[in-house]
Amino acid sequence: MCGIVGYIGTKEAALIILDGLAKLEYRGYDSAGMAIFDGEKIRISKSVGRLKVLESETCGGKTMRGTVGIGHTRWATHGVPSKTNAHPHFNRQETICVVHNGIIENYIALRKKLADRGYEFVSDTDTEVVAHLLDYYYKGNPLEAITKVLHRVEGSYALGVMFAQHPDQLFAVRKDSPLIVGQNEDGCYIASDVPAILKYTRNVYYVDNQEIVRLRGDHMHFYTVDEEELKKEAVYIDWDANAAEKAGYEHFMLKEMYEQPKTVMDTLSPRIRENDIVIEEFEMPDEQLRQIKKIHIVACGSAYHAGVTGKYVLESLARIPVEVDLASEFRYRDPILEEGAMVIVISQSGETADTLAALREAKSRGFRVLGIVNVVGSSIAREADSVMYTWAGPEIAVATTKAYSGQLTALYLLAMKFAKVRNTVTEAEFEELLDSLKRLPDQIELLLGSKERIQRFANRYVGAKDIFFVGRGIDYAISLEGSLKLKEISYIHSEAYAAGELKHGTISLIEEGTLVAVVATQQHLYPKTISNMVEVKARGAFVLAVTNEGNHDIEKVADYVIYIPKTHPLFANSLAIVPLQLFGYYVAVGKGCDVDKPRNLAKSVTVE
Ligand code: F6R
Repeated sequence: MCGIVGYIGTKEAALIILDGLAKLEYRGYDSAGMAIFDGEKIRISKSVGRLKVLESETCGGKTMRGTVGIGHTRWATHGVPSKTNAHPHFNRQETICVVHNGIIENYIALRKKLADRGYEFVSDTDTEVVAHLLDYYYKGNPLEAITKVLHRVEGSYALGVMFAQHPDQLFAVRKDSPLIVGQNEDGCYIASDVPAILKYTRNVYYVDNQEIVRLRGDHMHFYTVDEEELKKEAVYIDWDANAAEKAGYEHFMLKEMYEQPKTVMDTLSPRIRENDIVIEEFEMPDEQLRQIKKIHIVACGSAYHAGVTGKYVLESLARIPVEVDLASEFRYRDPILEEGAMVIVISQSGETADTLAALREAKSRGFRVLGIVNVVGSSIAREADSVMYTWAGPEIAVATTKAYSGQLTALYLLAMKFAKVRNTVTEAEFEELLDSLKRLPDQIELLLGSKERIQRFANRYVGAKDIFFVGRGIDYAISLEGSLKLKEISYIHSEAYAAGELKHGTISLIEEGTLVAVVATQQHLYPKTISNMVEVKARGAFVLAVTNEGNHDIEKVADYVIYIPKTHPLFANSLAIVPLQLFGYYVAVGKGCDVDKPRNLAKSVTVE
């Protein structure tokens, strides 16, 4: 996600900002920019691509002299990566400038209101509305203008704000996007994350939701949205510089697992409006949605596994037949796409060669393609007819976790949208589904809290030769992903089977002590899955069960049980996958594997 660095003090701001932004490069970005007050006015410099471009265009920051400024690395959300869309953004007189991390969810409505009042927009970003809104409310008191803006904007934001008429001040504000401030004898600092300012200070303040910080050269003040002053305690950071990039987590993969509640929340919240689902990006009239006769989901790897879950959810809720294909198969098998079919491609990177080729294949035959994509402006995002973004932010670890969670969430939303339009669920069922969806982020958080218990269990299996994952229905889809997570990072052989298939071959592989992870979240299939559990136990398997809270009788059969909180059965995947991700992760850590960069694998597979 975007990175923010700001400075006000006695040193050259541009040098500190460039240095801090470089420490935030791990967050991923596609363009960069900074604004410095030069004694007379605010000057902005922006560039597309690596930070090095901005560095070379400003001679390492030397051409931008001044001791107050803000900088930004942008990971595109609204609008393609370009100089115009890069931050900072100005108001019309170029006297107020803003950098932003997050998403202003009501930016379309605000943009319209501002345009009606004569404001002209130069970028496609949601951020620009903040600059113009500040301009609209600014009557000489920056704090007052900021609080008024905060009462109008919805969504998530970490903002750095500068006013040319108040060059002795810098402002930082946050809601649901990270932001810290810090101070030393040379000045005060703003940053999205600790590594950016660790070199300058270890005394930082974590800005809380809807708090405003006014930074001056030698002190800072904290305020509520009602302009009441707050007292805050500094936190001493004792991380080493390397740990700091991972926000204290041992690996990016662990950090990203912990970002799943936020990913789910960010993917859901812009699309849930007053108990309805609005997918603005997917602007198909209801009548057309009703006419879709079949959906083809095409993807690779974990994205394919998300698609398998999507099949169960879409078919169950919207009663539309769904076919799921591996992109590498779809593109060459001359697939039968009949009139009334729609194609959904799923990809975190948006660059996977086979998925892109499948998209082109479908389009060349005249079919409409919806992309569920994480990276804004990626090839798939550009070429698909519509794009539904999963707001996971940049994923650094090769093994996907949070982007997969975002993909599931996007598929749930689509299934519910279809179900509503096609009248395949009642009002009461829809409300229950919506309620379950909204509870997912907190429930994922809860499951992440039990990581120590899973770690202890995982440590027993670092020497395992084979581990099997089984389940029925949606639980089979979870098993596929659980198995992939384990094998790709721990190099332990693993396979996932539909539990009913065991007897048709795989059960011959079960030996004394073989670990079989059984996923049993679907109550209507529970007795059948228990029977499969009994069968593998009879052959000496050690059974790890993942099931719903309340199914305590499972302890009579399973050797080790992980319970997931109650949710709608169609959304159980989002919860059951969390302990399986943690299991794979801790087995790999226990084996001493390079978890974030497993051998032979690449994050973005741009060749077939
Ligand atoms: C597994 C994993 C891969 C990707 C696959 C597709 O953890 O990350 O299996 O899911 O390579 O990548 P995207 O989603 O970028 O198309």
